[in-house]
Formats: sequence, C-alpha cells, structure tokens
Amino acid sequence: MSAAAANRVREAVASLDDTADRLASQSRRYYHNPYQTAWPQAVDPEGTWYTAPELSSLYGTPWWEGLAEPARHRLSFFEAVNFFSLNIHGEKTLMAGLASRLYRPDLAGIADYLHHFLDEENKHSVYFGGFCRRYARIYRSRQVQFPGSPFTAEQEDFLFFAKTMIFEEIVDYYNARQAKDVRLHPLARFINQYHHGEETRHLVFGRRLAARLWEVCAPAWGEQAREDIRRYLRAFMVMAWREYYNPGVYADCGFDDPWGVAEGAWQAAGQRAHRRAASGR
Ligand SMILES: [Fe+2]
Ligand SMILES: [Fe+2]
Repeated sequence: MSAAAANRVREAVASLDDTADRLASQSRRYYHNPYQTAWPQAVDPEGTWYTAPELSSLYGTPWWEGLAEPARHRLSFFEAVNFFSLNIHGEKTLMAGLASRLYRPDLAGIADYLHHFLDEENKHSVYFGGFCRRYARIYRSRQVQFPGSPFTAEQEDFLFFAKTMIFEEIVDYYNARQAKDVRLHPLARFINQYHHGEETRHLVFGRRLAARLWEVCAPAWGEQAREDIRRYLRAFMVMAWREYYNPGVYADCGFDDPWGVAEGAWQAAGQRAHRRAASGR
C-alpha cells in the first residue's frame, strides 16, 4: 500500500478508536464460553420449527402450500442447517481477513477489538458446526473464489469491511427475529439469540468503519473505480442471498427437482419482497 493510502486508512480508523475501545470492553464483560452448552443427543426434524416459517425460502410459494405441517418442520430444520452452514463459510473468510489485519501498523488502534471480533466469530462457528455435524451435515458453499483482484490494497480494505457488513446485516435480520421466536426449538432459538447479541457489536463497528473508509479514502480513487466497487458490492449481495436458496435443502426435503425449486423460489414475488425488506439497512 502506498504511503498516502496507508495514511488515509490510518485517518479513517483513528476516528473509530473510542468505539473500538467501548465495544472491546463490552466483549470482555459479556465474554461467552461456547463449551458449556448441553447439546441434546438428537433432535426431531419433523417435531417443531427450527426456522421461523415466514423466513423459510419457500414461504409464500406453491411448494410451501403443498407441504403438510411435519414436512414444513422438516424444511425449517434443513433451512436452519443451511443458514448455519452459510455462516460457517462466511465466518471462515471473515476470520482469515481479520487475522491478516491484526497488528498492521495503520490498524493498531483497533487491534484489541479485532481480537474480540475474531474470537467471537470463531465461537459462532463452534455453535454452527456443532449443530450441523451433530444433527445433519455442513452444506458446501457454492460461492466461487476467483484468484487475483482488480482492486488496490486500500480498496480491498474497504471491500473487506463492506462485504462483512452486508453479510452480517442479512444474517442479523434472521437472527434478531428468531432470537425472540418461542415457536423455535430452544437450541435453534438460543444459537440465533447468542449470535445476534455479538453481531450487534460487530455491526456497530462495521457500519462505522465502512462509512469512514469510504468517506476518507474513496474520494482519491476516481469515479470509475468507485463505480466498479459499487457494481462489485451489488454482485456480492446477490451472491450472498443466493446461498439462502440451496438445492441441497430441497433435495433433503424430497423435492424431485431441487434446482428448479431453488430457481422458482428465487424468482417468486413474495421472496423478492422478503429480500428487499431484509436488505433495507
Ligand atoms: Fe458471526
Ligand atoms: Fe460477526
């Protein structure tokens, strides 16, 4: 990174020092040990809800209408397994990005909070992995990583925090609602509740940092680069949402044409409206 770019990043990050200190002290105060949870031996996928029905990817589609209650429960179970799986994949990338930024001189002021951020993501994945591996499996990610990047290191910093924020905003839409939903299996509800609690802090940090990096750094990039970045982030958001319509889920629920179901659900008017509402922030 050029000296001018590093100075801009340092300036943007400096205005977050107080926020990062406050969030770090909250992380210490609410420090959570993920190894004290009592996991049931087994869960019954058809016995109750694991995802709120209104948040199912098939809600409002003809496929939903065609399912009896136990089959809807089963779908809600595999949707939860998919939600937890996509979080594992997102958090792996996130942890790698946080680790690579720890103790970088221009990010020194937020190093303490980056430690908590990284620690908390790791613990989230302990829960997500614990659920998926005990009761089902981890679905593989369909996201493709392309080698190389057309962006500068400074732009990559902004993109890393902006993508993290977009990913976490979508996830938190689900977490926040399901944390309060007494219809859910207590374990599924707990995982949403716990995740929401820590993600609230990550989002305070991420929203401020992404905004500051854009304000301080982006004016030096030129209009073409800024437009490329906007287009890239729009594509990232579509890709992030696509993971919520996983043919593997529909196959595990016995649908004959899981890819057709995924495409039909993605196009359904009710699901478009849901994605718009959930992307509001
Ligand atoms: Fe997380
Ligand atoms: Fe997070």
